[in-house]
Amino acid sequence: MYGSHHSGSPLTASSCQVLGIESSCDETGVALVRAEPGQVPRLRAHALHSQVAMHQAYGGVVPELASRDHIRRVLPLTRQVLADAAATLAEVDVLAYTRGPGLAGALLVGAGTACALAAALGKPTLGVHHLEGHLLSPFLSADPPEFPFVALLVSGGHTQLMQVDGVGRYALLGETIDDAAGEAFDKSAKLLGLGYPGGPALSRLAEQGDPAAFALPRPLLHQPNLDFSFAGLKTAVATALRKLGPQPTAQQQADLAASTQAAIVDVLVRKSVKAVQASGLRRLVVAGGVGANRALREQLNAQAQRRGWRVHYPELSLCTDNGAMIALAAAMRLQAGLDQAGADYRFEVRPRWALAGT
Ligand code: KG4
Ligand code: ZN
Repeated sequence: MYGSHHSGSPLTASSCQVLGIESSCDETGVALVRAEPGQVPRLRAHALHSQVAMHQAYGGVVPELASRDHIRRVLPLTRQVLADAAATLAEVDVLAYTRGPGLAGALLVGAGTACALAAALGKPTLGVHHLEGHLLSPFLSADPPEFPFVALLVSGGHTQLMQVDGVGRYALLGETIDDAAGEAFDKSAKLLGLGYPGGPALSRLAEQGDPAAFALPRPLLHQPNLDFSFAGLKTAVATALRKLGPQPTAQQQADLAASTQAAIVDVLVRKSVKAVQASGLRRLVVAGGVGANRALREQLNAQAQRRGWRVHYPELSLCTDNGAMIALAAAMRLQAGLDQAGADYRFEVRPRWALAGT
C-alpha cells in the first residue's frame, strides 16, 4: 500500500486497465496492468522484444534501425499481451507510452502507436517519463517498497540518486557529471572485446577474476557531494590493457573485468550509503539495467543488513527496459491524481527530459 496526497481523480474511485508501450531505445516492450483503488497496480501480462542481436554487428544501437524494428514489433507484442491476459483492446481504459527521454525516432513509434490505438478506440492516452518507470518498477516486485525512500537509478544513460517522497515527488540528490554507470560497464567491456551491451558480459567475466588485481580510480568518492564521474575509468582500463601487451591472458582479462566492476560498484555503494544516511531514511530502491548486477546487489544488501535498512529491487526481468514499468508509472500517476489522460491524440516526444521537477 502507498499513500496518496491527491484525490479527486476519477481513477482513484474505480478500477482501470492501462496498456503501456516502451520504445525509447533498443527494446520494444508492451504490458497490461490493472489498477484497483488504493492498491498497487498489478501486472496482468507483458511482452518484450530485445534488438540486441540486431545492433550487435554495429557495436551499439543504430537509431534508424531501432525505429524500424519497433514498428515491426509493437503490434504483434500488443496482440501477445492481450492474448496472455485473456483481454481485449476494448477493455483497455488508458493507452500509455514512453514520452522520453530516449531516441526521438524510436519514441515516436511508441507514441504514435499508442495514440493511433487510442483514437481508434476512443480512449485517452498518457505519455510517461522513462526514468519514472524504472523508479517505480520495484512496486511490481514480490517485496514492494513504501514511500519515502532513496532511489539509486542506474541505467545505460543515467546515474542518479533521488529522494522519493511519493509518486511524482522526486528530488535529485546527485548524478553523474559525465558517463553513466551502465556506459562505464559498456565502454570497458568494449575495450575488453566483450561486444555490446557489455554490462552483463563484463560482470560474467568478473566472476572469474580478482577485483583487487588492478587499482582503478574511484573519482569523486571522497567529495562531500553525491555526484558521480565515470569517464576516467575507461581511460584507466585502456591504459591497463596497453600495459598488459598485445596478448593478455584469460586470467588477466578476468582480473581487469573484476577490478573494473569493483571500481564502479564501490562508488555506487558508498554514495548510496551516504545518500541514505543524509536523508535520515532507512530504505533504498535500486532501479535501471545496472540494478541487475550481482556484485552491486550483494554489496548493497550487506550494507543494508549492517545498518538496519531495507533495499528493494525490481524483479530481474524488469530491471532493464520493459513495458510493464511504463504501464505501472501511468497507472500510479493516474491513481495519485497527478495526470489526466488526454484524448486529443496530439503527442510530442521529449528525447531529452529531466525527471526531477516533472
Ligand atoms: O535501464 P536499461 O535497460 O536501459 C537504459 O534505460 O539505459 O540499462 C541498460 C544498461 C546497459 O548499460 C547494460 O550494460 C547495463 O544496463 N546492464 C548491466 C547488467 N545488466 C544490464 N550492467 C552491469 N551488470 C549487469 N548484470
Ligand atoms: Zn531504461
